[in-house]
Amino acid sequence: MLILSKTAGVFSKPARRKTYEFLRIFNFHPGKPFLHKLVLGIETSCDDTAAAVVDETGNILGEAIHSQTEVHLKTGGIVPSVAQQLHKENIQRIVQAALSSSKVCPRELSAVATTVKPGLALSLGVGLSFSLHLVDQLKKPFIPIHHMEAHALTIRLLNKVDFPFLVLLISGGHCLLALVRGVSDFLLLGKSLDIAPGDMLDKVARRLSLIKHPECSTMSGGKAIEHLAKQGNKLHFDIKPPMQRAKNCDFSFSGLQHVVDRIITQKEKEEGIQKGEILASAAHIAAAVQHTTACHIAKRTHRAILFCKQKRLLTPSNAVLVVSGGVASNLYIRKALEIVTNATECTLLCPPPRLCTDNGIMIAWNGIERLRAGVGVLHNTEGIRYEPKCPLGVDISEEVGEAAIKVPRLKMDI
Ligand code: KG4
Ligand code: ZN
Repeated sequence: MLILSKTAGVFSKPARRKTYEFLRIFNFHPGKPFLHKLVLGIETSCDDTAAAVVDETGNILGEAIHSQTEVHLKTGGIVPSVAQQLHKENIQRIVQAALSSSKVCPRELSAVATTVKPGLALSLGVGLSFSLHLVDQLKKPFIPIHHMEAHALTIRLLNKVDFPFLVLLISGGHCLLALVRGVSDFLLLGKSLDIAPGDMLDKVARRLSLIKHPECSTMSGGKAIEHLAKQGNKLHFDIKPPMQRAKNCDFSFSGLQHVVDRIITQKEKEEGIQKGEILASAAHIAAAVQHTTACHIAKRTHRAILFCKQKRLLTPSNAVLVVSGGVASNLYIRKALEIVTNATECTLLCPPPRLCTDNGIMIAWNGIERLRAGVGVLHNTEGIRYEPKCPLGVDISEEVGEAAIKVPRLKMDI
């Protein structure tokens, strides 16, 4: 655990003066007072600087986001010190933009909610330092937010989803299955033992040089794979899904990445092309890797549903599976999950893409959920720290493995 003082540079004295100026801008009185609770949410855990103002009923009053993706694409990955610098450069502008568009005066806020765990230490530090100065100036409560809890609860801003429900988070940095029993009551059923599915798809896309493909040059790796897969035959290569013998809900994607890597090297030899050129069989490879990924994710999720039903953790008549994260926008993977939810009589829900990826709205909404439940609302921020590593809820993945539930084979006709 790192302590806040390590990021003290965020608010040097001139910058602190800037906060006062920043707050003075909002010295106005809107015509209508707000009757509902209002929360400003701030997110800087990875490579997006995001903020939003959300009210108690789920109205998104204002939001702003600055994505660092373009910068990090050039370096082939996130450089933490670069991410930190970009957060520092943008946080004030983004928070100001979210507040301005919401027409909410900072004094009308009920609280400020900010991601403090888990994430990149240098990135988390910028958001926390900024927020602590803000709540100090405004004399408002502070609500520290767990990034994954916020992802998991976002669906409740849009749909009436009661506790408990099952959540699958799949993105470039996340891969987990959890049972959500309450605002701060989570059971972790399984997680990736190595990399996340989006990370694997990004690596495969990079290895296939899809950035040079005329149809895919502006797409993220995962999206490029989905696009190209439509032109390929998923059965052209026989790739086995990972961890078939392990009867738990954990995931693994790095073995799959290496298998695909070997196939690509072999095909380069066969087609007589150099690394960096586009293979004629690229679409078949994309289709096969997408299919194997979908089958792996579907199988683990199927087992999680059966486990929760067997242990009466999910109500059989009212079971909901929420799928979120960047990879959740993949329609092929969604269809695989739909086959699972149809077979198990579950309802499948996915937030829209802009709420699946990192954003300030989910942080503000988590603040609202916590205010309503009266949990984790701080009036004294002394000693508050960010935590780069922080598991989600109570880890019962061993118990899930011990139950060794055999999952019936489903026909993945997608
Ligand atoms: O949630 P997100 O924006 O950021 C984090 O990783 O936290 O997710 C980005 C990831 C990337 O790995 C990207 O390749 C993947 O989501 N992704 C997709 C698709 N669109 C984005 N993966 C598969 N299919 C897609 N259509
Ligand atoms: Zn995230």
